[in-house]
Amino acid sequence: MNTFELFEQLEDLEKIPAIRNVPESQLRQGRFTHKVKRQTKPNQMAELAEEEHALNFSYHASKHEKEWLISSLTTFYQQQWFDDVLSLIKGGGKEASVYQCLGNETTQTRYLAAKVYRPRKFRQLRNDSLYREGRLHLDDEGHEIKNGGALHAINKRTTLGMRLLHTSWIEHEFQTMSLLHEAGADVPQPYVSGNNAILMDYIGWDDMPAPTLNTINLDRVEAQRLFQQAIHNIEIMLAQDRVHGDLSAYNILYFEGAIYLIDFPQAIDPAVNRNAYAIFQRDMIRLCDYFQTQGVDCNPQNLAKDLWVKNGFPIKQPVDPRLLPVEGSDDF
Ligand SMILES: Nc1ncnc2c1ncn2[C@@H]1O[C@H](COP(=O)(O)OP(=O)(O)OP(=O)(O)O)[C@@H](O)[C@H]1O
Ligand SMILES: [Mg+2]
Repeated sequence: MNTFELFEQLEDLEKIPAIRNVPESQLRQGRFTHKVKRQTKPNQMAELAEEEHALNFSYHASKHEKEWLISSLTTFYQQQWFDDVLSLIKGGGKEASVYQCLGNETTQTRYLAAKVYRPRKFRQLRNDSLYREGRLHLDDEGHEIKNGGALHAINKRTTLGMRLLHTSWIEHEFQTMSLLHEAGADVPQPYVSGNNAILMDYIGWDDMPAPTLNTINLDRVEAQRLFQQAIHNIEIMLAQDRVHGDLSAYNILYFEGAIYLIDFPQAIDPAVNRNAYAIFQRDMIRLCDYFQTQGVDCNPQNLAKDLWVKNGFPIKQPVDPRLLPVEGSDDF
């Protein structure tokens, strides 16, 4: 079955949450005239598609993918964050899909990347408590969920609870990217989140997105330079109390001689997560796994220890990083 067909059965996506982070000053006056629908059910999609200011895009999506895109991106489109969806960068499966969108004056960028999550994305993240320890649950406005009923639903993993958790993962990714971009890290600038999606800077050429680093062979000199750039970014993250949590060459884009870190929903705060050092060691091991193949001489354990201590974190190791599940394996 086409995974997008699942969309029609997803009760938990009936409600389109409010969109936030809209810098009103950046919105062009006069064009934002459409009243945003807050309750959009799949069978209303066709009507929505017919409406004025509906999202009609160049990308040739299948019927269900199209409905999914309309549901997730129409509000951003109506708020004039972008003018068109041009192509699928990656995905189309059961997790997140990333699309290349045509930018406009709002962000002053030629293209944007829209990361649109499938509802299953975080349900498949086994051992998610490893990352959620000490974390606040965030609502679709990025605020802490304090409502007892909502927290109970999350603890009981009801349908509502799963939806709230899903939103919380996305908001954590958006907040982490905002924090790191602000701090000068090499991450795509995030613009807005909500509605199952994040809009951010697109990294790549007109007709091709930047490849992930794992597909690239570097010469020794460039490998050494990019390794230093990666370490510099890790130091910025630690200074902001963040560990990526899924760092590897698969989550680093390589574009015109520079690297960009992506994919942050599982990022953790060492101040509140007791597994932080083990997770950090795993990040360093995976990063070094790639750079070692490119001729860089690095010892992940020593490097992890040095960076950790240098940034003032105490070394506690409740979990052996080699025992942590690997993304993509059945245990993750
Ligand atoms: N800002 C961006 N610009 C260009 N391409 C991007 C951007 N963000 C993500 N991508 C592409 O989309 C892919 C998936 O993005 P990301 O890693 O954030 O999501 P994911 O849920 O982990 O998906 P996957 O499991 O496929 O890695 C990346 O590997 C990259 O190829
Ligand atoms: Mg990824």
